Amino acid sequence: MAANDVYKKQAAEAAVELIQSDMVLGLGHGSTVQFALETLANKLQSGNLKHIVAIPCSKHTEAEMRRLGIPLGDLNAHASIDLTIDGADEVDPQYNLIKGGGGALLREKIVAQSSQRNVIIVDEGKLSSTLGTKHTLPLEVIAFGWERQRDFVAKLGGKSTLRVDAGGNPVLTDQGNYLLDCEMGPIADPAALAQALEARSGILEHGLFLGLANDVIVAGASGLRHLKAKPK
Ligand code: A5P
Repeated sequence: MAANDVYKKQAAEAAVELIQSDMVLGLGHGSTVQFALETLANKLQSGNLKHIVAIPCSKHTEAEMRRLGIPLGDLNAHASIDLTIDGADEVDPQYNLIKGGGGALLREKIVAQSSQRNVIIVDEGKLSSTLGTKHTLPLEVIAFGWERQRDFVAKLGGKSTLRVDAGGNPVLTDQGNYLLDCEMGPIADPAALAQALEARSGILEHGLFLGLANDVIVAGASGLRHLKAKPK
């Protein structure tokens, strides 16, 4: 296994240790979360965890949960999620995040905003002094007039690229929308940028997850670190 995958697995296993029987869980999307799904499935199979139900943040995660025998929940049936485990693309010193590299940002944010505790699992390469310096900022945009959103991002000082598949066709989100990957440079004021993007019709979601992470579990060459945000 590549070193990075070893770190992702270590962070995922540490997060699964936080799960208790009878919890309602949120399960994110991505290669780091995949390790959490497999660890959780093993614990359910061995009887070390019981009676959990989990809400997936993507169709892919839902399919993996079905394959692994993790009980599926419906967000409409649960007013509150006890614990959500998800990955991130970039994490700043305040535990603000860029997410959406895997394209699941909209469902991920809905689930994160419905959760009592959001545990983010990353390898140390995702840590960053300033958001925007390590990863582009994904936007989920409605296909109608999407090029006007590209113009809007340009006015904000960014350069956006439509995400396409190997055949050059637009990648569609689970909701059937497009994704723009925006090079913003160092994002000096993430809250102001988030506000500007949220005010724009046609931009359905952005990948800035501000003040949502409660815990960040980081694995790397120097070991495993469990960082905790100050309670709000
Ligand atoms: C999915 O849309 C993203 O927000 C992921 O959480 C993020 O891209 C991390 O993915 P990896 O764990 O594959 O790096």
